[in-house]
Amino acid sequence: MFSARGALEHLLRPADYTAAAARARDLAWLRGHWHLHALACDLQRDGDQVADEVAGVPVVVRNDGGRLVGFVNVCPHRHSLLVGPGATHAATLRCMVHGWTFDDAGALCRLPDGPSFVGLDGSAVRLRRVAVERCGALVFVNLNVDAPPFVDGVPDGGAELRARFGAHRPVDRWTTSHAVDWKVIVENAVESYHVPLVHPATFRAFRPPELHDHRLWPGGTRYADRKPWGREPMGLAARLLGALFGAGAVSRFVHTHYFPTTMTYANELVSTAFAVMPRADGTSRVTVASFLPDALSSSLLRPLQWAFGRVFSQLGRRIVAEDMRLWPHVQRGLQSSEHAGVLGAREERVHAFQHFVVQGRGHVDDDDAVDAVAPPVACPAPPLRLGRRG
Ligand code: FES
Ligand SMILES: [Fe+2]
Repeated sequence: MFSARGALEHLLRPADYTAAAARARDLAWLRGHWHLHALACDLQRDGDQVADEVAGVPVVVRNDGGRLVGFVNVCPHRHSLLVGPGATHAATLRCMVHGWTFDDAGALCRLPDGPSFVGLDGSAVRLRRVAVERCGALVFVNLNVDAPPFVDGVPDGGAELRARFGAHRPVDRWTTSHAVDWKVIVENAVESYHVPLVHPATFRAFRPPELHDHRLWPGGTRYADRKPWGREPMGLAARLLGALFGAGAVSRFVHTHYFPTTMTYANELVSTAFAVMPRADGTSRVTVASFLPDALSSSLLRPLQWAFGRVFSQLGRRIVAEDMRLWPHVQRGLQSSEHAGVLGAREERVHAFQHFVVQGRGHVDDDDAVDAVAPPVACPAPPLRLGRRG
């Protein structure tokens, strides 16, 4: 059931999605939260590293002797990124321009042409550390190195994440960029009110309230199916997979939002992480990674499992592509809206997210709203065949 009984206040104002000041405030606020940064499979070997932006800040996470360490990916010499974006491998963390090299604590440990820098206190040259936490197949980052552990903010201490993304391997992954505010994407992902119009072929209709198991907590929300899906294409695909691989309750889905930017969508067979990140250039990046559990595989079933996992993740791509077509239109409407907006009880997870945002970073001032920036003209939805990460 829903927790709310009826209409809810739309807590964010249009300017909160469109003003330049809102974007700047979002980025600063997000720097104190945990975000999905990488997949553990990209950081398995000593020397593996993954660089990407986190809340507008370049970050690199490395496997250093089996330990994951993270730093702001900016060189103290002349400000270049140390390493380029994506997953790479290097014996040491060395700047790409002049070769300044840093140890696993971020201290300068090699300075080419040292005599040119006589007088420089090399011991004072350090990279800024960021907090890194692995939860199963997922690696999270927080720019606040003193932040409490990610799993401390989750009611079950991360048990569901470990179960859904523990001994799993990726079957599909992709990223896309969008000229829309990151909150538009998040809000679309955590409500089912749009399902009949946007996903008529896959989900067909939204489910009645009694089939919803909604949970809201200060750091997130969760939807779980109370009953398995039926004859909808998504339900049939899940049943087929369950029958083939012996996974129980495969047609029940759990969608969890770990505030602010990470969502997971899982049943017993396929687990998908969906992360949204605003970037310094004003765009929003969507990263999706789907996993299959190792435990289900036998050498005989593995190819079949892999093939059906791909089919299932393609279905997921189709659903997200249907959502993507909406996002520019929502963003365009927000730029010109004179309405306060309103939410229904079915959209209470949106309300909980908005509450979290308003509590954390407040509203932009009316004066700031005058500076509202127009994002590029609504872009067409990207094709279903989406680029791989890195
Ligand atoms: S800019 Fe990094 S070593 Fe010079
Ligand atoms: Fe959707």
